[in-house]
Amino acid sequence: MNETAMDSKTFMDTGLPLFAGLPHKIADLSPESVRFGRKELDLALVEMPGLVALREEYAGLKPLQGAKIMGSLHMTIQTAALIETLVQLGAEVRWVSCNIFSTQDHAAAAAVAGPDGSAQTPRGVPVFAWKGETLSEYWWCTLQALVWPDGSGPNLILDDGGDATLVVHMGCEYEQSGEIPAVETADSQELGVILSLLHQVRAARGDRFWHGLASTIRGVSEETTTGVHRLYERVENGTLLFPAINVNDSVTKSKFDNVYGCRHSLVDAIMRATDVLIAGKRALVCGFGDVGKGSVQSLRGQSARVAVTEVDPICALQACMLGIDVVTIDDVVEDFDIFVTTTGNKSIIGVRHMRRMKHNAIVCNIGHFDNEIDMGDLEKLVAAGEVDKIQIKPQVHEYHFKTTTHGPEGRGHSILVLAEGRLVNLGCATGHPSFVMSASFTNQVMAQMELHKNAESYGKTVTVLPKHLDEKVARLHLGKFGAKLTTLTEEQARYIGVPVDGPYKSDLYRY
Ligand code: NAD
Ligand code: ADE
Repeated sequence: MNETAMDSKTFMDTGLPLFAGLPHKIADLSPESVRFGRKELDLALVEMPGLVALREEYAGLKPLQGAKIMGSLHMTIQTAALIETLVQLGAEVRWVSCNIFSTQDHAAAAAVAGPDGSAQTPRGVPVFAWKGETLSEYWWCTLQALVWPDGSGPNLILDDGGDATLVVHMGCEYEQSGEIPAVETADSQELGVILSLLHQVRAARGDRFWHGLASTIRGVSEETTTGVHRLYERVENGTLLFPAINVNDSVTKSKFDNVYGCRHSLVDAIMRATDVLIAGKRALVCGFGDVGKGSVQSLRGQSARVAVTEVDPICALQACMLGIDVVTIDDVVEDFDIFVTTTGNKSIIGVRHMRRMKHNAIVCNIGHFDNEIDMGDLEKLVAAGEVDKIQIKPQVHEYHFKTTTHGPEGRGHSILVLAEGRLVNLGCATGHPSFVMSASFTNQVMAQMELHKNAESYGKTVTVLPKHLDEKVARLHLGKFGAKLTTLTEEQARYIGVPVDGPYKSDLYRY
């Protein structure tokens, strides 16, 4: 088959040509959807002082002129504000969501229409994302955002969880080794989809496509703990292809978004999904890191009785000091009403636990990937006829265990699984509020500007932004609270060994 014919061959079950050349693909570009998205974007900007300040600081200067940014990050209203900040600063942008359930369709519509466009005449950015993608659609979207209309690729990636970075690296690795593993060798459905994509891209574009794409990518900024973890693994095994900035470990990201963002959005999601009273319920939060701490606050704020599980004695001791029981899930699974995984690890809740849970226990995950809950094993029980899967509404499912005897009247019990085990705050609600995302995204914009200016000076390493920029992000957000900082005197600054204008802490300080 010649190149053009292969390009138009549809990808898996999507019905969409592999290299579709579409200007965008979203769920709803109606005038109503655009209006709703643009109105919510206006409201969001009032709560995003960091992004607004960067727009003002660089007005007319276009520090991102020449940047071609491919973004893979939840396509929400807050992300639309990020996208339009990057564009105002001069970048060309293409976007996908980093999760199949996290897109807010009106946010995608607002971003496609743009500030000066409309539903009829979109003038915004190419977005390929909609709520409720299949896995094959998800990876198709990622490919579309990586390829510019002239066939070129991005020179920067803005990633959340590392999927865009992953596909570029995998593509290059298999071009290097010559062989793409057979789809049948995949140990997960998702890996099967990625391998299918790589096979089909090779058939259409040959075995230098990913090298060509990677050769123009100067760097990536990574949003989240799990994505950053993947990057450090690559540095360790010497496979990172371009410099990376770890946005997650800016203090004004992980100690705010991961904690206070989840404090807001976890119970928001559980309530929108189930409407169940949280007060007095027993909730088990697996993992007491940053997201775990926010999740515990979220549930305690609703007067749930919360316990945690941990593997790290320091985090466990932190929980104890707050009067929170530290338990193992195996010991207590029968006693809890709500389970939340926050570990960034895999196989935290298995079907062996689900079998023992209370009738209508709520099970959800707020970590980045869906493998914290063994959904694959649960689906196998559905396929085997041992469990019935009943959709209550999209992203809320009852799984009824037919052979257990501790349900109503000694019959089988059910559990309620939210967002099919994917991150619940974006699957069943709208994620963190704008103010929190403003701090995260101000770091992102600064990381992109730094990479655009200086990527080559970093080498193939992972770097965090300097502390003075972290402090700048915090400073930009204080005004909104009417907070007034005390100014150090010269004498005080000398006494504690810091400059009057900061940075105020050494890199060892843990906040
Ligand atoms: P973290 O490293 O601070 O916390 C994870 C905690 O889980 C650690 O304390 C670790 O010791 C613990 N843990 C690991 N394995 C465990 C196990 N088997 N049992 C019990 N505890 C275990 O990471 P974080 O910043 O809190 O992020 C957690 C996850 O949430 C990541 O996947 C991250 O990418 C994601 N995240 C999601 C959102 C969101 O909006 N949903 C926001 C930020 C981060
Ligand atoms: N991560 C958590 N909440 C988010 C939001 N509202 N937008 C984008 N990414 C997010």
